[in-house]
Amino acid sequence: MFPEVRLRRLRQSVGIRKMLDAPLPGPEKFMWPTFVIDGEGKREEIESMPGQCRLSVDQLLLDLEPIVDSGIASVLLFGLADDSQKDFQGSEAYNNNGTVQRAIHAVKNKFPDLVVAADACVCAYTDHGHCGPLTESGNVDNDAAIANLAKICISHADAGADIVAPSAMMDGQIQAIRAGLDSNGWKDTILMSYSTKFASSMYGPFRDAEKSKPGQGDRKAYQASYGDLRTAIRESEFDEAEGADMLMIKPSLFYLDILAELRANTDLPLAAYNVSGEYSMLHATAQRGWGDLKGMVQESTAALTRAGADILISYWANQYNELFKD
Ligand code: PBG
Ligand code: ZN
Repeated sequence: MFPEVRLRRLRQSVGIRKMLDAPLPGPEKFMWPTFVIDGEGKREEIESMPGQCRLSVDQLLLDLEPIVDSGIASVLLFGLADDSQKDFQGSEAYNNNGTVQRAIHAVKNKFPDLVVAADACVCAYTDHGHCGPLTESGNVDNDAAIANLAKICISHADAGADIVAPSAMMDGQIQAIRAGLDSNGWKDTILMSYSTKFASSMYGPFRDAEKSKPGQGDRKAYQASYGDLRTAIRESEFDEAEGADMLMIKPSLFYLDILAELRANTDLPLAAYNVSGEYSMLHATAQRGWGDLKGMVQESTAALTRAGADILISYWANQYNELFKD
């Protein structure tokens, strides 16, 4: 005990601290979520997400060069439909020649070693903004929604995606997608489930980016409730039982307890999605001079790794060298 034991000995110099600290996650742990749009030469800055844009495929390929050079492992592609393309089912999402499908193909072609993942959902493609077609009472029709998700994932696999990632929080989605992939010859396509995804207030900037705010109501009848820990854990357990290859917790920084609990209960790879609101919150703080961006980014990302995340789905990924190197 004190005065013989002095814990400050163990952090008295940069060298000792470096030796004892777990390293920050390397770029190979990061998956960069990004937004693709139709056209050529298009770069639309997303006001609520500084440093992030909607890019046409040619621009995405340009932007990816330095990102791939920095060692980032993977991208997670999101698409969106023009208002004129939106319909009740969100059918543009499974157009074999849609924007995301073409982007997957182009990215894989130019960067064969980059792991390409694509989000599968219809909320940026439906005229009502929900994650599946609606029943008469206005609920998302679960069993119709999972049939659409399977079509989307097959079209992404056809385009060359390494990973398909359904984000709709429908029951049975993993089973339906795995069956669809397997019967189309995509036995090796990895299925990363957004397995425990909460109905969160932290998706606001993403919904600006994706123009995917529900026209009416919210997503609380399908996304998990943050008050109900046990059901949130069962969501991931079910997806594991249905054959998911990887699980995910989303958002992440507000859910470190659940991330740690999932880590203790599964041997599947676990991804943490550091969502748009968590990203923009740190930017907004830094912009006001209320905190140092790099310090906040490193500290929050270290928390995700410490809590048990193997894969970091993070908008910081396209700024890896600036934010994570000394
Ligand atoms: C859509 C989807 C959302 C996000 C990823 N996929 C938003 C939502 O459920 O409304 C959020 C990502 C983020 O906020 O960064 N199914
Ligand atoms: Zn959705």
